[in-house]
Amino acid sequence: MPNQKRRVAIVGARGMLARMVLRSAPSEWDIVALSHPQFDLTDRASARMGLSAFQPDVIINCAAYTDVDGAESNEALAFSVNAVGPGNLAQVAKELNATLVHFSSDYVFGGDKTAPYRETDCPDPRSIYGKSKLQGEQLIQDSGLERFFIVRTSWLYGPGGKNFVESMIRLAQQREELRIVADQFGSPTYTADLTQAALNLLAEETTDTRKKRTPDPLYGIYHYANEGQCSWHRFAEEIVSLLKTNGETIKAKLILPIPTTAYPLPAPRPSYSVLSKAKYRKTTGAIVPNWRQALARYMANRLNSQSHPQGGSP
Ligand SMILES: NC(=O)c1ccc[n+]([C@@H]2O[C@H](COP(=O)([O-])OP(=O)(O)OC[C@H]3O[C@@H](n4cnc5c(N)ncnc54)[C@H](OP(=O)(O)O)[C@@H]3O)[C@@H](O)[C@H]2O)c1
Repeated sequence: MPNQKRRVAIVGARGMLARMVLRSAPSEWDIVALSHPQFDLTDRASARMGLSAFQPDVIINCAAYTDVDGAESNEALAFSVNAVGPGNLAQVAKELNATLVHFSSDYVFGGDKTAPYRETDCPDPRSIYGKSKLQGEQLIQDSGLERFFIVRTSWLYGPGGKNFVESMIRLAQQREELRIVADQFGSPTYTADLTQAALNLLAEETTDTRKKRTPDPLYGIYHYANEGQCSWHRFAEEIVSLLKTNGETIKAKLILPIPTTAYPLPAPRPSYSVLSKAKYRKTTGAIVPNWRQALARYMANRLNSQSHPQGGSP
């Protein structure tokens, strides 16, 4: 349907990623934004009712229970939102003949590898959050829905959400010394780039160009994060360096590396969760921006939107 208006439902519409999807959606899309609590994906009847009224061609699920540490003591809620919910959406998508785009996490992996995780690597989640996200993937795959993209991503940041970048900016403005974990490695990912990746995958539904690049099936699991890798400590150093470059006033003078053991949290994290983007690149032919470039773009846009609150592009 190359020139047809696509009807797209965005679920979890007030979340950080959803805001970017709404901001970046092609103008030719006909969009409905469904947000909690009016739209609850854990209740299949309500999800069916909310979605069938709109008859979407595409459902983009940005909803999740994302409090990784909170999930350790709220297991039932985490599984309900991250597993039952996506399973419900897959069933409804099948009934409505819609494509489902769902986001999952690098925390489905155990972290024992030292080379980027591929889609074919065996998941081994260690936290309740990771286990609930994995079950969500499995329920989609077992639903009988044929047209779905499960996009696993990592270390997400962007406007309008609680995230590491915003926490570091706040801390750098308040404290002279920051102590940041230096023995966990992953890839920071800007919501603008993840959104573009989802749009690129969806665009492949309507073109034949992929077939020249790969005979593999289009639908299934994909990994997407910004290119390159770092520790949380290196990530924090880059954030503070960009604050300085942009002339922002900060207190932070020292950013000290600490081991995970010095900052105990309820949920265990993988010590390595870099995702291989090879399948995404082969499928879409797209370039994956490097994490440092993406962060610089975010910081510049952030500054720009502070001085021009209505403006700013992703
Ligand atoms: N943030 C990260 O670092 C990260 C890393 C890897 C993967 N991911 C994945 O990326 C996706 C987007 O994450 P995000 O950071 O944008 O999430 P987010 O900002 O926490 O937003 C999640 C949204 O889901 C909504 N929600 C919760 N329960 C719901 C329910 N029962 N029915 C409908 N909506 C419900 C929340 O609404 P309320 O606020 O009203 O509860 C919230 O608006 C998620 O799948 C997440 O697992 C995130």
